[in-house]
Amino acid sequence: MKVGILGSGEVGQALGRGFASRGHDVKIASRTPKSDALAKWQTQAKGKTSTGTFAETAKHGEVLVLATLGSAVEEVLRLAGPPNMAGKVLIDVTNPLDFSQGPNPGLFIGPNDSLGERVQRRVPEAKVVKCFNTVSNTQMVDPKFAGGNPEMMICGDDAAAKKTVAGILKEFGWPGTIDIGGIEGARWLEATVPLWVLVGSQIGRWDHAFKVVHG
Ligand SMILES: NC(=O)c1ccc[n+]([C@@H]2O[C@H](COP(=O)([O-])OP(=O)(O)OC[C@H]3O[C@@H](n4cnc5c(N)ncnc54)[C@H](OP(=O)(O)O)[C@@H]3O)[C@@H](O)[C@H]2O)c1
Repeated sequence: MKVGILGSGEVGQALGRGFASRGHDVKIASRTPKSDALAKWQTQAKGKTSTGTFAETAKHGEVLVLATLGSAVEEVLRLAGPPNMAGKVLIDVTNPLDFSQGPNPGLFIGPNDSLGERVQRRVPEAKVVKCFNTVSNTQMVDPKFAGGNPEMMICGDDAAAKKTVAGILKEFGWPGTIDIGGIEGARWLEATVPLWVLVGSQIGRWDHAFKVVHG
């Protein structure tokens, strides 16, 4: 599969490595695609990789991943070009975190809207699936949780797109998915992230996740 990763931070690099290691043809996007950091990422990633602008990367991918700073999402979608994303699965990993009040973030969208919904409205012809935003980049591929791996919670409006994402999760080593419904579920997946930060501060580590358990 050709995969376009819109974002070159920790998340973009981790997911890019994951897709490349599974034999996919990965292009990763940045405003500075010829940077030393991305050249280093390419030498470390195993498999077929390339770098490009946001538009080149959106064109390349049959499946796209949105992994940019939450406040930069609108600008990145503009740079990527909505026509380049039409008809494609767009995995949205972003969070609308607001650090203006200190190290414990709030959200700059919500509670009756979300970044996931904003992305879907901005690119109505893409099939947006919210996924991976509730876990650390270090656990996105080949997750290893001491208490047993949780199922990944996802949401989105397109059933076939969610099936594609469930397949990717399986390839990456997740035991399964919990589909919480339409893209409006992103309100609540995004809302768990400030809680995730508070919990991380208390336990002193950043590779944790919330797990659904039942009797
Ligand atoms: N870090 C994690 O473990 C984690 C886990 C779950 C979810 N998330 C979410 O995933 C997203 C990515 O996180 P991250 O930690 O990998 O990196 P990040 O620092 O939040 O974002 C880096 C990316 O954002 C782009 N960017 C920043 N400002 C921009 C602007 N003004 N215009 C255009 N692009 C801009 C950068 O572009 P350039 O490449 O051009 O610099 C880069 O590709 C965030 O929304 C975060 O909340 C992160």
